[in-house]
Amino acid sequence: MDRKRLFGLGLALFSTLTLKVMGQHKSTETHFVIPIPKIKSANPNRPLANMNRDSLIYMITAFINPLEGNLKWVEGDSHSSQDWGLISDSTVASQSYSSFQKASRATSASQTFSIFKNLLKTKAYTEVRAWHHSRYPVPDTVAELEQLYSFSKWDLELIKNSSVKGTQRLIYRNRNSFPKISIAQTLSEKGSTIRETEMIIPREDLSGQFDFYAYNEVGQLSNTSIFYSSKGKNISAFVPYTCMSCHYNSSDGVFQPLPLSYTGHNSK
Ligand code: HEC
Repeated sequence: MDRKRLFGLGLALFSTLTLKVMGQHKSTETHFVIPIPKIKSANPNRPLANMNRDSLIYMITAFINPLEGNLKWVEGDSHSSQDWGLISDSTVASQSYSSFQKASRATSASQTFSIFKNLLKTKAYTEVRAWHHSRYPVPDTVAELEQLYSFSKWDLELIKNSSVKGTQRLIYRNRNSFPKISIAQTLSEKGSTIRETEMIIPREDLSGQFDFYAYNEVGQLSNTSIFYSSKGKNISAFVPYTCMSCHYNSSDGVFQPLPLSYTGHNSK
């Protein structure tokens, strides 16, 4: 191969790589630059994989209505001593973050983080469902869920002994239509009744993020879910924060159907 051609190839490879890097760079720009709890410095152009930062962005955007020009924080619990600020014309999470930090009088990033974490446990969080799922709603009961999506007809995978639930689990996925929802039903030890139904559904704001929901043994939307601990006990934990700790993709910075232990991209 002559030199000129080799040079040409090199140039082509170089520009492809550059474009690729630039493309990645571009996509990282949609990641908002937010103070990172626990890590002292971060280069805003090349955000590190950082679960705290990604969780914070996820939690902030959970309370932003993508359909409204004038954004507004949901009211906090009436029991809480916080008062919540109104945010006008804020389209980016970083602005929202600062306004929220001011309104909540949090003095540090980690304090803001824990306020959000607690806010996710409140009714206020479940009430913002419609903002991110206005076309494909998240109903209050499993019966309505079945009525809406007929999920019992989707592709089914049986997990004989789920490590996270300590018992059998049925996983339904609609691979062929939008939205790509996953529904997991945990069976009772005898396999005769459904102990819990969990759902992972994409947000409709094109952020690539998914939301997590759980329905209890009577089929009602619940803010807790039952997990099997390493000590062999069933423990109750809050939705969605607990779900986020496993269903995370560190390379994309998104919370997704595939759990952390399965490395790689979200293929489902
Ligand atoms: C301790 C880690 C862990 C936590 C916490 C967790 N999951 Fe999972 N999740 C898994 C694993 C592992 C699987 C794979 C199936 C299995 O082994 O049970 C899974 C699978 C799923 C699936 C099926 C996804 C698919 O299409 O394959 C759904 C739906 C789901 N989880 C929902 C939830 C929800 C909702 C929460 C929070 C209430 C949650 N998960 C919390 C580990 C976790």
